[in-house]
Amino acid sequence: MQVVHTAAELRAALAGRSGTAFVPTMGNLHAGHVSLVELAKQHGQPVVASIFVNPLQFGAGEDFERYPRTLGADCEELAAAGCDVVFAPDVAEMYPVPQTFAVQPPHSLATDLCGAFRPGHFSGVATVVLKLFNLVQPRVAVFGRKDFQQLLVIRELVRQFNLPIDIVSGDTLREADGLAMSSRNAYLGPSERIQAAQLQRELAAIVTAVQAGERDFETLAATAARHLKMAGWRVDYVALRDAATLQAPSPDSTRLVVLGAAWLGQTRLIDNLDFGLDNPA
Ligand code: PAF
Repeated sequence: MQVVHTAAELRAALAGRSGTAFVPTMGNLHAGHVSLVELAKQHGQPVVASIFVNPLQFGAGEDFERYPRTLGADCEELAAAGCDVVFAPDVAEMYPVPQTFAVQPPHSLATDLCGAFRPGHFSGVATVVLKLFNLVQPRVAVFGRKDFQQLLVIRELVRQFNLPIDIVSGDTLREADGLAMSSRNAYLGPSERIQAAQLQRELAAIVTAVQAGERDFETLAATAARHLKMAGWRVDYVALRDAATLQAPSPDSTRLVVLGAAWLGQTRLIDNLDFGLDNPA
């Protein structure tokens, strides 16, 4: 496995090779990332993973500085997973001049749900992903469904900019108690870590209720948020949406997603569950 840090090194490593499958990451890899690399291997070769903590997608006061940087361990994981090339640029390599051009995702995606609580976040994500796509020139790119809203932003980016890239999504991997794997889980203290699985349980309870025929989506979401607040969480949102559009479910919706974002102490966790609706109401 080659580890490269500059665009020129990346170009040299990929010269004459087509069919690249790309897994963009911010590093501090866990089994969820490894599963995305394994998925990428089924879709193309060589497999390229990027490791870059993108300052553009962090707001003022967010965790850009303390986001864990673990390049050595990440490279060991990627080599073991069968990755061919790791692209790990520094900020000056990715942003050699101030990034005054930015990709502005559609308002409906960028300012809703996480976008409402992290203004500019999805613009920062879309901008860096477009730059990474230009550098890596993949045929396929793999993103986790854990970041469901991000996945929809990237699909729309590819569609609206006519990028010849297939976007493949990977399942969310979970710890034994149901907590979605995330680099940010490392911020949790021992008692927070035990409590953290409640977010997934509340979302799962909504899925069960909807599948049993309940259609008062607002009450279901409000009840889950109330349970979380009573247990000490600070809730950004719990919402049920159409999984294809992220809009409120319509009578035609056949696939829904329940999404939640909430804070335990200083740690913001997100999770979602998408599911089919056999009997749309
Ligand atoms: O999901 C992530 O890790 C990041 O948002 C991404 C896609 C690598 C862009 O920085």
